[in-house]
Amino acid sequence: MNKFNVAVVGATGAVGREMVKILDERKFPIKDLVLLASERSAGETINFRKKELEVQELNTSSFEDIDIALFSAGSSVSKKFVPIAVKNGTIVIDNSSAFRMDSHVPLIVPEVNLGDLKKHNGIIANPNCSTIQMVVALKPILDEVGINRIIVSTYQSVSGTGKDAIDELAEQSSQILNNKKPVRKVYPHQIAFNILPHIDVFENNGYTKEEMKLIHETKKIFGNSKIKITATAARVPVFYGHSESVYLETKKQITIKKLKNIYLKTKGIKLVDDIDNSKYPLAIMSEIYDDVMIGRLRKDLTEPNGINMWIVANNLRKGAALNAVQIAELLI
Ligand code: A2P
Repeated sequence: MNKFNVAVVGATGAVGREMVKILDERKFPIKDLVLLASERSAGETINFRKKELEVQELNTSSFEDIDIALFSAGSSVSKKFVPIAVKNGTIVIDNSSAFRMDSHVPLIVPEVNLGDLKKHNGIIANPNCSTIQMVVALKPILDEVGINRIIVSTYQSVSGTGKDAIDELAEQSSQILNNKKPVRKVYPHQIAFNILPHIDVFENNGYTKEEMKLIHETKKIFGNSKIKITATAARVPVFYGHSESVYLETKKQITIKKLKNIYLKTKGIKLVDDIDNSKYPLAIMSEIYDDVMIGRLRKDLTEPNGINMWIVANNLRKGAALNAVQIAELLI
């Protein structure tokens, strides 16, 4: 089997570290793995396949000899370095939002729109974490009966913001429990023991950028600009795992029994829906399972085509690193 030179850009970050772990777990055929980050962490080491690999500072010559680069160092780094990598002949899978809505860049969730992958010109975009889990959950419904409308509210963990936010939740929790004033650095308000209806920056229309990403990316991935979508995104004091409450209206009616049967047969989805025994997807379960978990499935009480559900997935894994590595596997 061919082996590839792979680079992880942002290797010291919350998603980057998960990318390195998943490349190992899934036995990705690697010749050399190059770990890149900012000058702040150059020289640090990260263990990969029983070797301590030194993190290197990202620079314009980082991509010589690199076949595939997984980027997760934020939009500004991607905007500057992805074109340099592509010019070198490296294929880039970019986890930032920099190129997601570019019409020449496929936005891929393998379970949903694998067919779009072949259209790539060197860049493949990895969708936003909250989009990935929602489209995986809704694709079987889209295929079976069609979808007219989606109303989604998210409950997103702090790891989606990055490693500094994980530290902030831990530190603030400890400060509050010890009767100290919580110190705020990453978020505009205290996140411990609180909920912020504010993820990313506000746009002129009153929605946040995170909410607009969910709307635009879902339409692009489904290849359907007509689906009506509205979103509210909230940050909750949870370390790992994003949860979503989704209400949708289908084109044709479908029973909950039929939907459950479809989900039981769908790869990448785990149905956790046994209310008599208090079983439903929980954010902490996303630290164990890679599947997108679905539960609380129920018909709306007034709208015959309305369905409610609760969707949970690991935002660092299926919502980011795992989806990126799955794309890389399909490429090779
Ligand atoms: P570093 O650890 O050196 O700051 P997170 O999303 O968890 O905050 O992680 C962001 C990742 O992106 C980290 O690996 C971080 O490296 C990396 N990063 C941030 N800015 C740059 C930059 N200008 N050049 C290269 N890597 C960067």
